[in-house]
Amino acid sequence: MGKLKPSCSTALLLFSFLLYCFPSSQAQQDYENNQQAACYATNGSSTLGYSCNGQRNSCSTFLTFRSQTSYQSPYQIANLLNVDASNISTINGVANISSPITIFDLVLVPVACSCSGEYYQHNASYTVKYNDIYFSVANNTYQGLSTCQALAAQNPYDSRNLAVGEKLVIPLRCACPTANQTASGFKYLLTYLVATDDGLDAIAQRFRTDSQSIMDANSLSSSSVIYPFTTLLVPLKTEPSKEDLVNPPPPPSPPPPPSPAATSDKGSSNKKWIGIGIGIGVGVLAICGVLIWFLCWRRPERKPIPQAPKIAESPSDALVSSEIRSVIGSLSLYKFRELERATGSFGEDHRIKGSVYRAVINGDNAAVKRLKGDVSNEIDILKHANHSNVIRLSGFCLHEGNTYLVYEFAERGSLSDWLHHKKDRSGSSHLGWRQRVQIARDVADGLNYLHNYTNPPYVHKNLKSSNILLVREFRAKLSNFGLARPVEDREGPHLTRHVVGTPGYLAPEYLEHGLITPKMDVFAFGVVVLELLSGKGATFATEGDETKEVLLWSSIGEVLSGEDARSKLRSFVDPYLQNDYPFDLAFAMAELAWRCVEREPASRPTMTEVFLSLAAIYNSTLDCNPSDLTNSGSTTNGR
Ligand SMILES: *[C@@H]1O[C@H](CO)[C@@H](O)[C@H](O)[C@H]1NC(C)=O
Ligand SMILES: *[C@@H]1O[C@H](CO)[C@@H](O)[C@H](O)[C@H]1NC(C)=O
Ligand SMILES: *[C@@H]1O[C@H](CO)[C@@H](O)[C@H](O)[C@H]1NC(C)=O
Ligand SMILES: *[C@@H]1O[C@H](CO)[C@@H](O)[C@H](O)[C@H]1NC(C)=O
Ligand SMILES: *[C@@H]1O[C@H](CO)[C@@H](O)[C@H](O)[C@H]1NC(C)=O
Ligand SMILES: *[C@@H]1O[C@H](CO)[C@@H](O)[C@H](O)[C@H]1NC(C)=O
Repeated sequence: MGKLKPSCSTALLLFSFLLYCFPSSQAQQDYENNQQAACYATNGSSTLGYSCNGQRNSCSTFLTFRSQTSYQSPYQIANLLNVDASNISTINGVANISSPITIFDLVLVPVACSCSGEYYQHNASYTVKYNDIYFSVANNTYQGLSTCQALAAQNPYDSRNLAVGEKLVIPLRCACPTANQTASGFKYLLTYLVATDDGLDAIAQRFRTDSQSIMDANSLSSSSVIYPFTTLLVPLKTEPSKEDLVNPPPPPSPPPPPSPAATSDKGSSNKKWIGIGIGIGVGVLAICGVLIWFLCWRRPERKPIPQAPKIAESPSDALVSSEIRSVIGSLSLYKFRELERATGSFGEDHRIKGSVYRAVINGDNAAVKRLKGDVSNEIDILKHANHSNVIRLSGFCLHEGNTYLVYEFAERGSLSDWLHHKKDRSGSSHLGWRQRVQIARDVADGLNYLHNYTNPPYVHKNLKSSNILLVREFRAKLSNFGLARPVEDREGPHLTRHVVGTPGYLAPEYLEHGLITPKMDVFAFGVVVLELLSGKGATFATEGDETKEVLLWSSIGEVLSGEDARSKLRSFVDPYLQNDYPFDLAFAMAELAWRCVEREPASRPTMTEVFLSLAAIYNSTLDCNPSDLTNSGSTTNGR
């Protein structure tokens, strides 16, 4: 209990210290431990509220809030927090309820706190504004006084589909003292909002109390880390008042080395305390609706620029030699002249798409992709990858700051061409059922390899039908590894602030919090399976209203639930399949896809499970009456 570990925060400053003694007899509530940032990984109840374990079921207590632009006067703050405005102005020594309070100043807010079921809370209400999600309401508007998990638990709406004008109950975190705390003379548990650069000593000093009692009240241990936009309970013996508050000391300069001598000096101000983890997630970035996506371009997120681009700056191809070979190992190094010759000087007639050209090298077809900037990621992954469902990189060339990657040639182009550009295609060729199942199985096989069998394991991060290439016999290959990332590093799963990708494929936890795990590939894979089943794009315009885009993944739940799921699925399935498909297998595949696009990452299957299921569906497909599948034979013309 109370042993907290630094979690997956991207930048974590830990000023650790040792404490000689940690009595737990008075510990009462568990600290959030930054779990409030993981809206879809609810883990324990600390985020849902402080449990009703006090002596009384209700009490008056205090919250803190920091004045901000839209909530600056007692009147505005009182409306937001559902309290009495004049009580705020009195306790904070403000002239009247409309006098502005200096931005970022700590405001004391008297509230009535009571048990509502399992948890203490003070209810406020909030009307949804444009682009709100539970996380932004809890973290940005309420500054962490509530959590997305508590909002989800107490409101009937789906976070992704909050509609402007909807009223939310906002359970604000508060608590009443336990019998032990009362016995020790504490009358109030003030809900304090941790700020960036806050430390426990500074907080204790501010309220003229000692760190130990705060640690006890929040089940913190000596190695704990506290995070901004979370709450801490500060036990107080008297009612706080603005005059009593001590201004926070200046932020500590360099962290002092942990020393038992300093820490055994209990309660004194030179006891050094814990640091602060920077809040994680990118809720705001994501919800601002600014969905940026980079197609053939990416921003390196963490790796330093590696060897290859450095060498690319060298003036002539001749200088590129031993050093690169040592980096690239088995890959061939092409001369630019060779590639020019092979691609007809990168002529239009050789262009496949974007900056990808068809080349003929030593009589074999190849694809050459021109990239700017750091391509080390893709090279790093592909030079080790050896799997029939991962595109093979055969070599590369550096020339005038560009890198040219040479891949095996996928003569049938991308899956998205086959599914979504039917009008552009001559003839009536389309993918048959068996081919679609085989493609799904191949992609699952490739992803399973990437997630579990490469060293280190990777998340592809950019799976979509245009990154799935088809070769002869419609075997599928994963391509475009520019965004791929190792599954984990020492700090645990990755989080990013640069949300990139294609709308319609991005998993909610990535979009909202920047969480990068293999489950985001599972999600995108579910979307690809839905594309295979329906022939629709990951986002498509609704019939009747061309301006309204629908996310494919959000439509499958409706199809598969309710009474007439089978007939709804029949109309969902791609009309190009003309009912020439085994319906039960299509149903199984749709259900699998539905599980893959569950909002909660933990509810999604792993890629291994997905691959095994698809292998079974594929085998059943082969066992089917061949007359069911006549279409698959007739579809290999064209292109
Ligand atoms: C209260 O304190 C007593 C002794 O100090 C301890 O045994 C008991 O477990 C404590 N109760 C709680 C709820 O912490
Ligand atoms: C859930 O809690 C367990 C133990 O308390 C911890 O090991 C695990 O990392 C937590 N998971 C998440 C997603 O925070
Ligand atoms: C304001 O505070 C007083 C005492 O502190 C309390 O009796 C009163 O109920 C509060 N007003 C409201 C509306 O909460
Ligand atoms: C509130 O106080 C401000 C000064 O802080 C004053 O300018 C304003 O007129 C006052 N408003 C009311 C309604 O008393
Ligand atoms: C939480 O809200 C604060 C204040 O608005 C903001 O600075 C911070 O970036 C938010 N945290 C996340 C993870 O979005
Ligand atoms: C607060 O809201 C919850 C619903 O989320 C409700 O059950 C509870 O009764 C409310 N408490 C008060 C004091 O109104």
